[in-house]
Amino acid sequence: MLNIAVLVSGGGTNLQALIDAQNNAEISGGKMALVISSKTDAFALERATKAGIAAEVLLRKGFSSQQEYDEALLSLLARYRIDLIVLAGFMTIISNTVIQHYENRIINVHPALIPSFCGEGFYGLRVHEAALAKGVKVTGATVHFVNEICDGGPIILQKAVEVIRGDTPETLQRRVMEQAEWKLLPKAVALFCEGKISVENGIAVIKED
Ligand code: GAR
Repeated sequence: MLNIAVLVSGGGTNLQALIDAQNNAEISGGKMALVISSKTDAFALERATKAGIAAEVLLRKGFSSQQEYDEALLSLLARYRIDLIVLAGFMTIISNTVIQHYENRIINVHPALIPSFCGEGFYGLRVHEAALAKGVKVTGATVHFVNEICDGGPIILQKAVEVIRGDTPETLQRRVMEQAEWKLLPKAVALFCEGKISVENGIAVIKED
């Protein structure tokens, strides 16, 4: 059984999708051992507590240097013997130190079809605002490994979602979550925990049954 840590900053609907998948025995090779929030008032913390998962708050501003923050994060992850980190709407930048420590063991969900609408500054509603401003007819979500390039790591799963005339960033965000993120993220975590994802020459490959 792999120990999973889910890192959150907000509402935690993706965390909820993972909790639901775990309760439905869809993540057979792993279990959520820890939720870390970058905000004290994140609703995701309540979801974790309700699900009986240990929840910790780690504030970047609580540390005077990146190095001290990294050490605190790594020791927290070590204390819970974490094998896989899932970024589910985590809005604090993960440094190269942590990325190298967990190479190809950090999964992120991004609310667009990478390489569109991604990279620095593209997070949350801003992604959907940019998609609507460009007038794309299809957007979606991507689950990928985290490497040193922002939103540039190996792509694990993607799903397209239609943009509908009259969409606002909020309605589009909701559709992308419902139709893509909440399905893709638990699926990718389950595949990882079953040892079915490998990275070959910088490309994520999923083993078929
Ligand atoms: C999700 O849409 C997630 O894809 C996005 O933040 C939202 C978090 O919602 N992440 C990013 O934009 C990362 N670049 P949630 O707290 O309800 O899961």
